[in-house]
Amino acid sequence: MGKLEGKVALITGGSSGIGLAAAKRLVEEGAHVFVTGRGQPDLEKAEHELGRNVTGLQGDIASLDDLDRIYGRIANDLGGLDIVVANAAFVELVTLAASTPEHFDKTFNVNVRGTFFTVHKALPLLREGGSIILVTTSGHVKGVPLYGSYLATKAALRSYARSWAAELTARKIRVNTISPGPIETPIIDKQFQTKEEADGLRAAFRAAIPFGRLGEADEVAAAILHLASDDSSFTTGADLFIDGGLSLT
Ligand SMILES: NC(=O)c1ccc[n+]([C@@H]2O[C@H](COP(=O)([O-])OP(=O)(O)OC[C@H]3O[C@@H](n4cnc5c(N)ncnc54)[C@H](OP(=O)(O)O)[C@@H]3O)[C@@H](O)[C@H]2O)c1
Repeated sequence: MGKLEGKVALITGGSSGIGLAAAKRLVEEGAHVFVTGRGQPDLEKAEHELGRNVTGLQGDIASLDDLDRIYGRIANDLGGLDIVVANAAFVELVTLAASTPEHFDKTFNVNVRGTFFTVHKALPLLREGGSIILVTTSGHVKGVPLYGSYLATKAALRSYARSWAAELTARKIRVNTISPGPIETPIIDKQFQTKEEADGLRAAFRAAIPFGRLGEADEVAAAILHLASDDSSFTTGADLFIDGGLSLT
């Protein structure tokens, strides 16, 4: 019997990268997983890849209407939720000097406000014993040129997780963050105009990470499964780094 038999999970940004790898792990352990993303073709691909116990729901976490529609569908189909993996996010590289109000608003609107309301709107559906996992980045404890707004959004999520964990103990709902270092997913290429630039970042990461390589999405998914399941039944408010030692440097 799987570790998540009978459980219902939502993974935002479950159509690609870390979210998709986590969806695979959770389905393998018996959960029914709702995966979201903005792009319908990627959702259909994810549904096809996972094959069973998965429902793709199109939606933008920055849209409260989309979130209401997604939670309405989950309530209607399966009546409640046990696991929320608030994973959807994006990164836009820009220095402080070159930043615009549009850059600031978009980054905080998606990564912070979108995640905030993903969790807020999940609360009525979450059952006792539930697990909320916010995906941040190990960079939230570092200073990295060009990544200032992105890392600040993830630091905000880390802070929210502490308060939400404290509030939700009353309902026996656990809240934890995972903080991956550089992981080989499509988000690496999405940051750049050319493949050469993205490969330059990969090479810089390989040189900087003590383990000498980028992580794999499945290595993060294993940590998400740990925090989603009763294997971590006494863990709340924690931040799990999965970064090959990068934050130690
Ligand atoms: N890969 C890394 O090196 C790394 C390191 C540290 C932290 N992380 C974090 O890990 C998480 C997953 O990233 P990833 O590496 O798996 O990237 P990815 O492959 O680009 O996946 C991002 C997912 O989020 C979805 N998404 C993006 N914006 C969205 C929005 N506004 N509303 C709903 N869905 C949205 C994407 O689908 P659509 O574009 O179709 O919406 C996609 O499914 C993110 O929170 C990221 O910050 C990644």
